[in-house]
Amino acid sequence: MTVALVSGASRGLGAAIARRLAADGFAVAVNYAAGRSRAEQVVADIRSAGGTAEAFGADVTDEAAVRELAEGVRAALGPVGVLVANATGPQPETPVDRLEWRDHLDQLEFFVKSPTLLLRAVLPDMRAAGSGRVIQIGSDMFERALPGHSAYVAAKGAQWGLTRSWARELGADGITVNLVAPGWVPVERHGELSEADLSGYVSEVPVGRIGRPVDVAAAVSYLASEAAGFVTGQRVTVNGGHNMD
Ligand SMILES: NC(=O)c1ccc[n+]([C@@H]2O[C@H](COP(=O)([O-])OP(=O)(O)OC[C@H]3O[C@@H](n4cnc5c(N)ncnc54)[C@H](OP(=O)(O)O)[C@@H]3O)[C@@H](O)[C@H]2O)c1
Repeated sequence: MTVALVSGASRGLGAAIARRLAADGFAVAVNYAAGRSRAEQVVADIRSAGGTAEAFGADVTDEAAVRELAEGVRAALGPVGVLVANATGPQPETPVDRLEWRDHLDQLEFFVKSPTLLLRAVLPDMRAAGSGRVIQIGSDMFERALPGHSAYVAAKGAQWGLTRSWARELGADGITVNLVAPGWVPVERHGELSEADLSGYVSEVPVGRIGRPVDVAAAVSYLASEAAGFVTGQRVTVNGGHNMD
């Protein structure tokens, strides 16, 4: 059974990705930071649906914690064949006149440092297997570039740059590296949303509805599959056509 490690899988998109990869037949390492009980619920749901999963607490922005995470996953489930770099911290709105270097670092911790630590930790497994799938969860905010979000937008752009470079660097090892860029997909942290909250956004979406976590998970599922072995260095935007390349 191929092992998939999903960072930040206790809730939101990560939880949906974990559930989908488990349904696809992967043994899933469900990473969390503070949300242990939520992660354990994701694992319980996967197991009751007949899948294989285990929860692993680790701050994926911390080098030692990521090393321990990879060792723990390897010991419990086996070598990692699929890495999904999904975790995010808070994404505060900060106008440029109040923007500090610390604000940039807060985003880069999640979208540059963490993917780098995670990849380095699992790369020996993938190299030994002669194959691997690295899937970064980016954002269409890089294209939309909304005011007040420049630290997030810049870090998501950097994450896309990493994806492209790693795809070239690791192709010869049989490792593909791609990025899924969701549009707005309401999750727990967005709270209760009224029809009015959604309608302005949806009116600009060609397919005429809001995104769901399963939409993002489906794109990850494809990129993690055997069938996607000839796809690397690509970005799959999952936003109902809200913006187009
Ligand atoms: N939802 C959207 O509209 C949207 C749109 C575009 C892109 N994205 C991208 O999709 C990804 C997931 O976003 P989301 O909306 O699903 O976020 P979310 O609901 O806020 O979930 C964040 C996840 O990251 C985990 N996490 C936070 N800090 C961590 C740390 N230091 N180490 C390990 N895990 C940590 C959280 O775990 P705990 O529960 O343990 O805190 C949680 O599982 C992000 O990369 C985000 O930028 C989301």
